[in-house]
Amino acid sequence: MNLDVLQICRIDASLEAALAVFFETIQASGEAEFFHPHPFTAQEASRRAYYRGADLYYALLQGEQIIGYGMLRGWDEGYTIPSLGIFMARAARGRGLGELLMHFLHAAARARGAEKIRLTVYTHNAAAVSLYQKLGYRFEDAESDQVIGYMDL
Ligand SMILES: CC(C)(COP(=O)(O)OP(=O)(O)OC[C@H]1O[C@@H](n2cnc3c(N)ncnc32)[C@H](O)[C@@H]1OP(=O)(O)O)[C@@H](O)C(=O)NCCC(=O)NCCS
Repeated sequence: MNLDVLQICRIDASLEAALAVFFETIQASGEAEFFHPHPFTAQEASRRAYYRGADLYYALLQGEQIIGYGMLRGWDEGYTIPSLGIFMARAARGRGLGELLMHFLHAAARARGAEKIRLTVYTHNAAAVSLYQKLGYRFEDAESDQVIGYMDL
């Protein structure tokens, strides 16, 4: 994998087509079972591309291809603690890029004035649980097979 063309961009209209491709990949992967903040359809990619609210949606790009997707949501609904979500393309995993995107999202939340971050994760999602533990999240029980992670920024 050629890593010399990486960038993290706030999602805008220029990324609509690339995001639709990425969402299709998520849907086809079967892993939307772990990560389902919204539907992964072309229509939803279009909504994200033209979204102009307070929440933050980012793409990690390698060249023109999206290899990671990260979000901080909740401000639109009036919450002061944003909820974080992340998804890395399978081929891009295990190279520290998920962790990089997490640090970026933490910095973006901090820049917005957030003092904490929350997220929800399935207890059997070993890779994500391990990533969040490594970054210092502490967990509280949520519904059935999920926990809520919190971190002070
Ligand atoms: C979870 C996810 C974001 C990790 O992305 P990644 O780019 O592979 O992660 P990194 O390479 O940056 O690894 C960082 C840490 O994550 C953990 N991790 C990553 N892959 C792992 C695996 N297969 N098994 C166990 N731990 C793993 C480790 O703690 C790792 O640190 P280490 O390298 O020091 O061991 C990625 O697997 C993914 O997108 N999964 C599907 C979507 C998802 O589950 N999102 C979270 C929903 S709550």
